[in-house]
Amino acid sequence: MRIGTTSVDNGVLLAPMEDVTDLPFRVICKRYGADIVYTEFISSEGLVRDARRSLEKLRLADEEHPVSIQIFGGDINVMVDAAIRAAESGPDFIDINFGCWVKNVVARNAGAALLKDPPLMAKLTRAIVDAVQLPVTVKTRLGWSKDSIVITDVAQMMEDAGAAALTVHCRTRDMGHDGDADWTWIPKIKEVVSIPVILNGDVKSPEDAQRAFATTGADAVMIGRAAIGNPFIFRRARHLIDTGELLPAFSPRERINVCLEHLRLELESKPQKRAIHEFRKHYGGYLKGLPNNSPVRQVVVTSESYDEIAERMLQYADDLDLRVPA
Ligand SMILES: Cc1cc2nc3c(=O)[nH]c(=O)nc-3n(C[C@H](O)[C@H](O)[C@H](O)COP(=O)(O)O)c2cc1C
Repeated sequence: MRIGTTSVDNGVLLAPMEDVTDLPFRVICKRYGADIVYTEFISSEGLVRDARRSLEKLRLADEEHPVSIQIFGGDINVMVDAAIRAAESGPDFIDINFGCWVKNVVARNAGAALLKDPPLMAKLTRAIVDAVQLPVTVKTRLGWSKDSIVITDVAQMMEDAGAAALTVHCRTRDMGHDGDADWTWIPKIKEVVSIPVILNGDVKSPEDAQRAFATTGADAVMIGRAAIGNPFIFRRARHLIDTGELLPAFSPRERINVCLEHLRLELESKPQKRAIHEFRKHYGGYLKGLPNNSPVRQVVVTSESYDEIAERMLQYADDLDLRVPA
């Protein structure tokens, strides 16, 4: 797949996720194999108002390229201004969010609300394509509801509007994140457009990624929830797709070491207290499925000190090494 000057074959991409895909998380996913990473969505209104939290989200690291900044909003002029600002931060692409299902976004006629008005989606996309020098990509869903699946029409309209790639979260807006993603739409979309089509929704394992490519002809796959606390999924998926060999799961010690590496990145990028607190949501993922992890979790999610967290986590890794297999 080619987007602008970026070429990636069988790419495995990190999905944009609010409060998750901040700079440290994107860097850790990149280090462990993600081909392209996305910022969490950024409010166009926030960007043009110079809201501190929105501006902060524009910060990118050299190491994370290719990276896309995702913006959302329903007002064309505001979106254009926001896209110009986002482009100044030096991403490789600008992505437009036409998929967010949550009420307060949809109520502002943004995100998935635009699926009810594909001509406006096209107008907004065209305006941004004309305003920035970078490739502009779009992420959306199949439609508003099961009775109004519009994705094949929307895909053509996005291509005509100048979008450089299309990501499809294979659910409708009314499904939220529930129910199964329906990948069968991907080949139908591929039939009607020539821009890259990125499959998203329910890629939960390396095997799922391999199956997604094999059964749909997608140009890339994008992983969201399954990457939380599990950035290794990218390396394992890539390896399986490239070689046909499934690498063993990362060992508990490797997972703990990567968790601490991620925490150190967090501490480098934010004030200590904020970093330690915001990181708490990640322990569950890194420790998931490891035996008897509640005592260590209880310590790390209440600790204010990196040294204490590292000591407790490494002690836990030692304890696991000493465990007699059941
Ligand atoms: C916590 C969370 C935050 C999300 N935030 C965004 C977002 O900012 N922008 C976006 O386009 N999608 C967002 N999504 C949707 C994901 O990008 C993705 O489309 C969805 O999770 C389906 O993929 P998955 O099954 O691999 O998780 C979010 C999803 C989650 C779980």
